[in-house]
Amino acid sequence: MDAKLQRRVQRYGWDKAAEDYERFWAAQLRPAQDLLLALAGIRSGERVLDVACGTGLVSLQAAATTGPSGKVVGTDISERMVERAREEAGRQNVEQVVFQRMDAEALDLPDAAFDVAICALGLMYVPDPLRALQEMHRTLAPGGRAIAAVWGARKQCGWAEIFPIVESRVQSDVCPMFFHLGTGDTLAQAFRDAGFSEVRAERITTELAYEGEGQALGAAFAGGPVAMAYSRFDQPTRESAHAAYLESIATFRRGSGYRVPGEFVVVRGDR
Ligand SMILES: C[S@@+](CC[C@H](N)C(=O)[O-])C[C@H]1O[C@@H](n2cnc3c(N)ncnc32)[C@H](O)[C@@H]1O
Repeated sequence: MDAKLQRRVQRYGWDKAAEDYERFWAAQLRPAQDLLLALAGIRSGERVLDVACGTGLVSLQAAATTGPSGKVVGTDISERMVERAREEAGRQNVEQVVFQRMDAEALDLPDAAFDVAICALGLMYVPDPLRALQEMHRTLAPGGRAIAAVWGARKQCGWAEIFPIVESRVQSDVCPMFFHLGTGDTLAQAFRDAGFSEVRAERITTELAYEGEGQALGAAFAGGPVAMAYSRFDQPTRESAHAAYLESIATFRRGSGYRVPGEFVVVRGDR
C-alpha cells in the first residue's frame, strides 16, 4: 500500500475508533504498556516523548511519574485521539503533559529534547517504522533511552484473521506489515539500524479476554485498526465479516466468552 494512503487510513480510521478504543482495549493492552514503562524506568523530573499516544493511556501514567517538575509530550496522527487525550489530562488536572497531532515519521520537535521516548503499540501502523525510530533517536538527548512495544508474531496472535477477513471485503491491504515487527528479531534490529545501542528485547504472551461475542467483535472491528474499512461496510458485509471473524476465533471460546491468545514484543535501546 502507498505510504500516503496508509497514513490517511490510519489517521481517519483511528478518529473513528477513538470513542470505543479504551472500552475495548485499555485492559487488554495493559501487560505490554506495564512492561514498556518498567523498562523505561521513568524518574521524577524527566522529559518524556510518547509517540502514537492514542488517548494518552501511557502518557498520563508517565506524567504521574515525572511529576510537575518533568514534562510529557504525547503525539498521534489522529486528531480525535489527541483531543480525547487532552480532555482526559484536563479531567485529571495534569499540567505537565501536552498532546499534539503529529506523524511519527516527521516529528515537529527539536533534537535532543527528551530523556525518554516511548511508543506503545503504534509502530505496526507506521509505513516506515525505521524512520519513526530514527525520529525518536534524533529527539532524545545523548544518554536517553527509547522503548517500543508491538504485537508479536502472527501465529501467536489468535485474532490475526481480522486482517484478511476485512481486506478480502475491501480488496486492499488494511495494515500490510502488521505482524512484521513482532516476528523474530525484527524490532530489535530496527532499533540497531536507527542508531540505538544496548538493545534488548522481551517477548510476553497474553490473553485477550472477552465476555461475549459483542465484545470480541467490537474490539476487532469498531475499536481498532480496521475501523476505517469497517465503517464503510454495508450491513450484509458487516454480518458476513462478523461471522467469519467469530469462526476464526471459535477454538478460543470459553463458555459464553473468549480467551484469545496474543503476544507482545517490547524493545529498549539507548541513545
Ligand atoms: C493501538 S493505538 C495505541 C495508543 C497508545 N499508545 C496506547 O498504548 O494506548 C495506535 C495509535 O497509533 C496511532 N498512529 C497510527 N499511525 C500513526 C502515525 N503514522 N504516526 C503517529 N501515530 C500513528 C493511531 O492513531 C493510534 O492512536
